[in-house]
Amino acid sequence: MLFNSDREIVLVVDDNPTNLELLYNALGSSGYEVLVEMDGFSGIEQAKNYPPDLILLDVQMPGIDGFETCRKLQLDPSTKNIPVIFMTALTDTTDKVKGLHLGAVDYITKPFRHEEALARIQTHLKIRRLSLELEQQKQELEEIVQKRTAELTCTLQELKKTQLQLIQNEKLSTIGQLVSGIAHEINNPVGCISGNLEQASLAVKDAVDYIRLYQAKFPNPGIEIEQKAEEIDLEYLLEDLPKMFLSMHTGIDRIRNISTSLRTFSRADVDYKVSVDIHEGLESTLMILQHRLKAQNYRPAIQIIKNYGEIPKVECYLGQLNQVFMNILANAIDAVEEANLGHTYEAIKENSNHIIIQTEMKDEHQVAVRIADNGMGMTKDIKQRIFDHLFTTKPVGKGTGLGLTIAHQIIVEKHGGTLEVNSEWGRGTEFVVTLPIV
Ligand SMILES: Nc1ncnc2c1ncn2[C@@H]1O[C@H](COP(=O)(O)OP(=O)(O)OP(=O)(O)O)[C@@H](O)[C@H]1O
Ligand SMILES: [Mg+2]
Repeated sequence: MLFNSDREIVLVVDDNPTNLELLYNALGSSGYEVLVEMDGFSGIEQAKNYPPDLILLDVQMPGIDGFETCRKLQLDPSTKNIPVIFMTALTDTTDKVKGLHLGAVDYITKPFRHEEALARIQTHLKIRRLSLELEQQKQELEEIVQKRTAELTCTLQELKKTQLQLIQNEKLSTIGQLVSGIAHEINNPVGCISGNLEQASLAVKDAVDYIRLYQAKFPNPGIEIEQKAEEIDLEYLLEDLPKMFLSMHTGIDRIRNISTSLRTFSRADVDYKVSVDIHEGLESTLMILQHRLKAQNYRPAIQIIKNYGEIPKVECYLGQLNQVFMNILANAIDAVEEANLGHTYEAIKENSNHIIIQTEMKDEHQVAVRIADNGMGMTKDIKQRIFDHLFTTKPVGKGTGLGLTIAHQIIVEKHGGTLEVNSEWGRGTEFVVTLPIV
């Protein structure tokens, strides 16, 4: 059977051929496509196979009656939205109400009053048309909203990333500039002292030799000179002078090392990868954190235990990598100090604050850096959130909740590595950084 899909379709289910014919003619001449069935089951089948826009349903039929047919139509998702109008010869109000309760949209009483029946049918078809349009518009709107939301979410993520990048660059360049500035300023006077010290120690050695020679040649220089020698403790002075110079040398060497570390650390502004000795990066970072590690009046120094393995140089952004080490180590110090809270100096000493830094080959293509502390550790809940933007458990002013987010971005996105954490509340924390060698 061919149907004209432009016309609205009305399915009439009635066991009375006279009624069927009447409705068929009336609806057909009003421009509707009319399908007819003579019992409930056939009506349901027809409605499923070729869904009409409206169903006119007789109440009293052999087999299943109109109510049962309506119930079945309602249960099937493919037919439940088709409006049903009951046709009933009964003037009984209970039946009408029952029909409406079952989901029918209206009823027509028999014998039909032609105009009234048509008007009702037209009204419901119109409602159906409008609600279909509305549904379609709603769906289109929902699609648009979904698309926009997805776009916005994307943009928001991009923005967050950019913001982080900006903060990170800002942090880096501020630290970098400051540090390299200081290193540079220290370098000149240190060079000057170191050069002069060399000369001075040679001159002092000559002077000492000269005095010794004097003493040998003139063992009795007279009371005035002997008195002066005693006054200034000449013997001790001659012995101590070379040692003083030696310790000054050591001091200057230390300052020079610090300055080198500072400059290593601050090679941050380099925006391309370089081949880096990870240990050098760790050392310079530790040097900068020295002031936080040393002993305080409430606790002994935090010990750094280094288990450096044999690892090759790694291609990376050194300044950024140092920043990762800095963030992880600073967190470790915070955690150790938090664990110390409420404990006496003696108790803390017993438990020995420490941070273990271990480097090793993870496999032939990757190195691993493990930084473990014996601080207070994390609960499961905190552990899940540590890499979240702005997540912090520290008081305002102490933590911003950016350290690990930045570290994660640097390691994972910039270097294609991984950053993992192992931690248990009360037992300390270990961060594992893995980096591809090339
Ligand atoms: N070693 C650690 N031991 C215990 N908790 C830690 C450790 N490292 C990080 N955390 C937890 O993860 C949170 C987030 O760390 P993150 O470094 O991102 O921010 P923050 O240290 O709070 O602030 P900042 O931006 O100054 O670094 C911390 O507030 C802390 O609760
Ligand atoms: Mg931090």
